[in-house]
Amino acid sequence: KTHKITLIPGDGIGPEVSSAVVSILEAAGAATGVRFEWHRHLAGAEAFEKTREYIPKELYESIEENRVALKGPVTTPVGGGFASINVTLRKKFELFANFRPVKNLPGLKTKYPDVDLIIVRENMEDLYAGLEHEVVPGVVQALKVITSKGSTRIAKFAFDYARKHGRKKVHAIHKANIMKLSDGLFLRCCRDVSLGFPEVSYHEHIVDNACMQLVMNPYQYDVLLTENLYGDILSDLCSAFVGGLGLVPGANLGTECAIFEAVHGSAPDIAGKDMANPTALLQSAVLMLHHINEPETAERVQAGLEQVYREGKVLTKDVGGTSGTKAFADAVLKAMEAP
Ligand code: NAI
Ligand code: MG
Repeated sequence: KTHKITLIPGDGIGPEVSSAVVSILEAAGAATGVRFEWHRHLAGAEAFEKTREYIPKELYESIEENRVALKGPVTTPVGGGFASINVTLRKKFELFANFRPVKNLPGLKTKYPDVDLIIVRENMEDLYAGLEHEVVPGVVQALKVITSKGSTRIAKFAFDYARKHGRKKVHAIHKANIMKLSDGLFLRCCRDVSLGFPEVSYHEHIVDNACMQLVMNPYQYDVLLTENLYGDILSDLCSAFVGGLGLVPGANLGTECAIFEAVHGSAPDIAGKDMANPTALLQSAVLMLHHINEPETAERVQAGLEQVYREGKVLTKDVGGTSGTKAFADAVLKAMEAP
């Protein structure tokens, strides 16, 4: 079977990690009778140089047609420049749920063993709606948009996931003590949805306390249900439990399309140096393989990856190793070949 997949290599470490991932998927596919047709497209500054568009029309059309994309990180300028490519794509394709499983890899020692939690982040609203304006010089307003439709939809997603996968608890993360109307609405929707899921226990934590609770004892959490901004921040925090941003995958999910990408950004500090850990994007690709209903290929990749971590001989610098991106990818390829 052949799958057409839109590939956005991205900026910074994006091209390095995505080429590692593509080579591993190609090999796993060849061994399991699955073929990939990669439709490669630029986005962001590089796309603008070539096409005068930050998100070229061809990229939109490609995602519309294929409905599945694998995406490397894209650099977003701080301050001025252009609107975030990520935010724009998520809005355009109504990718309302950002799904981020945080789980230790076997063999990789971190300060927190056996963490297994899921972040379910609302992906289209909140302060990320991008509605900012200068009222008068020296005064800027940013509008936080929370809707009952968006909040109910993400809460349903979280609870449905919990029910389907035997997860016991959902914690809604909020700051409704201060943002009484916006976070208040989010919470009310979460509560309403929770009533339909009596087998999943429902809790509420204020976001600043949740940061402390997480660092003290992440094991008390199971599914974290958050608005857009809190979910963004908590994702990076939680990645540290399992070894950092080099590891944690993500999926932007809608009803029509899905874009799979790591939690991390373009990591300009290590870009082009063969230092990036491709694990986060690789695990995102594993989520993608499950999404396109190729579990055998997914398991082959995951098993190879876990084998490399279990052996612990070929690891990238971020997780205490001395190997480069390419050597790590080669080790995964080799582990997948072993019977
Ligand atoms: P970052 O996630 O790129 O990097 C943070 C730290 O983690 C850096 O020290 C980096 O070296 C390290 N790191 C990240 N990924 C790694 C990997 N795979 N292997 C090893 N180390 C890794 O965050 P930063 O520096 O704040 O953002 C850089 C750019 O990325 C910004 O322009 C930002 O807007 C963009 N960004 C894009 C995202 C996306 O496209 N989905 C998500 C987050 C940020
Ligand atoms: Mg982020």
